[in-house]
Amino acid sequence: RPDDFLDALVARMTLEEKIGQLGIFADTLRPFAADVNPEMNERNAGELREQIRAGRVGAVFNGVGAAQGRESQRIAVEESRLGIPLLMGADVIHGMRTVFPIPLGEAASFEPELAQRTARAAAVEATACGLHWTFAPTLDIARDQRWGRVAEAAGEDVVLGNAFAAARVRGFQGDDLTADDSLLATPKHFVGYGAVMGGLDYNSVEISDGTLRDVHLPPFKAALDAGALTVMSAFNDINGVPASAHDGLLTDLLRGEWGFEGFVVSDYTADFELVAHGFAADDRDATRLAFSAGVDMSMQSGLYAAHLPDLVASGEVSMQTIDQGVRRVLAVKQAIGLFDNPYRSLDAGVEAALDPHALHFDLARDAARRSIVLLKNEGDLLPLRTSGQRIALIGPYARDRANIEGCWTLFGDARLHVTLEDGLRAALEDGAALDVVDGCGMEDGIDGGIDAAVEAARRADVVLLAIGEPQGFSGEAQSRTQIVIPPAHQALAEAVAATGTPVVVLLRHGRALALHGAVRDAQAILATWFLGTATGPAVADVLFGDYNPSARLPVSFPRDSGQQPLYYNRQRTGRPELPGMTEFKSRWREMSHRPLYPFGHGLSYTRFVYGDLRLSSDTLDWDGTLTASMEVRNDGARAGEEVVQLYIHDRVASRVRPMRELKAFRKIALAPGESATVHFELHREQLAFTTRSGAFTAEPGLFDVWIAPHAEAGEARQFTLRAR
Ligand code: IFM
Repeated sequence: RPDDFLDALVARMTLEEKIGQLGIFADTLRPFAADVNPEMNERNAGELREQIRAGRVGAVFNGVGAAQGRESQRIAVEESRLGIPLLMGADVIHGMRTVFPIPLGEAASFEPELAQRTARAAAVEATACGLHWTFAPTLDIARDQRWGRVAEAAGEDVVLGNAFAAARVRGFQGDDLTADDSLLATPKHFVGYGAVMGGLDYNSVEISDGTLRDVHLPPFKAALDAGALTVMSAFNDINGVPASAHDGLLTDLLRGEWGFEGFVVSDYTADFELVAHGFAADDRDATRLAFSAGVDMSMQSGLYAAHLPDLVASGEVSMQTIDQGVRRVLAVKQAIGLFDNPYRSLDAGVEAALDPHALHFDLARDAARRSIVLLKNEGDLLPLRTSGQRIALIGPYARDRANIEGCWTLFGDARLHVTLEDGLRAALEDGAALDVVDGCGMEDGIDGGIDAAVEAARRADVVLLAIGEPQGFSGEAQSRTQIVIPPAHQALAEAVAATGTPVVVLLRHGRALALHGAVRDAQAILATWFLGTATGPAVADVLFGDYNPSARLPVSFPRDSGQQPLYYNRQRTGRPELPGMTEFKSRWREMSHRPLYPFGHGLSYTRFVYGDLRLSSDTLDWDGTLTASMEVRNDGARAGEEVVQLYIHDRVASRVRPMRELKAFRKIALAPGESATVHFELHREQLAFTTRSGAFTAEPGLFDVWIAPHAEAGEARQFTLRAR
């Protein structure tokens, strides 16, 4: 198409058609979830196709189905005056029909390449089902486990978050944006949403510029550098300015500093909510504030259509700004080839031929087992034998199908999912017995449940206790004050443990949990998150040693709910807790401030031994490179994978620095007896932070460095960053 194609198109558009491109509406032809504003949806339901025909819709979302999408597209292309194609979006967060582990679980793999592959698979399935665009990846760094949406992102650390952000964008979008199976990514929620106060969803965010820039913004930058073309603005306010009306962030930073050329879509009715925030006087004011700040596309509220015409007429919004927003939306449509091929990804034949199981079950299984963290394994209880013993699988998740996917899956195909029971049965050999008992319900006890569980536990050689948070306890608007398992599950665990039969806890959860009593004290604990479609086989692979667990915690596990927020890279205090010194120290009255299981922790069925940390020099020149090396040996009898983690600490700085900061990690595979030396290169940029003056720079001086298996391990070495 000619270079001036978009300019010429915009020049032909009426104001109403332009504003149409700035709106996205739920495809209510297919019913979707609960609504915060039923009135708007009601109005939208009967009208959507009429609106498309009139050129008043730029995009639709959360509808699915190639045939139905094609018909909507046909109306847009053939019956609207200018024939501008629709973008079809949806929340495809961790899989489409095949459901992969929740993103937090997948982050535990410490393998961004794995997330790239699962995002690619999700894109293949989603585009076959008529979608062009996903509202993912979620990039909110979350340090407070009370927040329910911690499940959707990569955990508490920025370096891990950056790696997964870029990988997921690459996976969704693939190499060619115009390909039928390329799915546009939307880094969200811009920005600071993971830092809502008290972990309460939609709450305010009070955050320093330094923390915003050094912790919460980098994953977005990484995602944009990886090629993302759309960004979703968040619900929360930041230091009093709602993110969806934050011109400093949406325009000055995103466009000015970072040069972002794609478009910003609001979160669901986030513009309308500016009134509830008390930031806008009324809907008209909310429209003006959101649009002028840089929200190009309004999701679902209908406010832009209702108020932009008048705002343009009054001169409060210029036609030039409208054109700029429209151009951004059209440019993304052009980038994915919609003008040349409006029916891309809308082929009912492709959808009918899609065989998710054949295409992606093995990947789902591999992703799931690579996400399971072995938290504890006393006396090497695991792995288990597949024959010659009686196993009791006890707990509400034993045969449950409804809590396999985890939060934010709209389109998962439950027929593909394999339960724990089915996965275990398939792995067991003749001569093994498996008793399966629910023991309790998802939230409550059941009549006779504990008695049956105790009886099964008494008869068994080992108990697999499938307990944890039900699926609905994490995700959007699922903040919790107590990050614990339901009391009925705890009671079940206590009763089963009292039998004296060894217990392996198969924990299901969408966040780090505070583990207590018999759960914390069980002989073995596997953190299994929500693993998705291949739950049963993946857990069986780990339990029976077909896969040696290699995942590590992307979030710190607390000792108690009251420790939140808890994260390994907290800033230093003047009164740190020291061994044997507790009075007037930074600790809780009841307990230490240290986690039960730190960030980066995870065991293996083999043993990795770390050697001495070697530095290529004890100084790093301003523009130089320092190599930190560590020999790691597999000292056990099984092959295994280790996540080797490099942390630094800036001893003295003009702003108080974290106790440790992860700067690099590498997963290595070692055969029994094998050693490898892992080399990490360090540069000045990795030591930089946002200083009080706002500059992003490193400060010369002494640094500690560790190469260790988790955030609390290892012996530090020192080096000095020399001044320029
Ligand atoms: O993408 C989501 C967002 O994460 C939460 N609010 C609704 C959006 C669209 O479904």
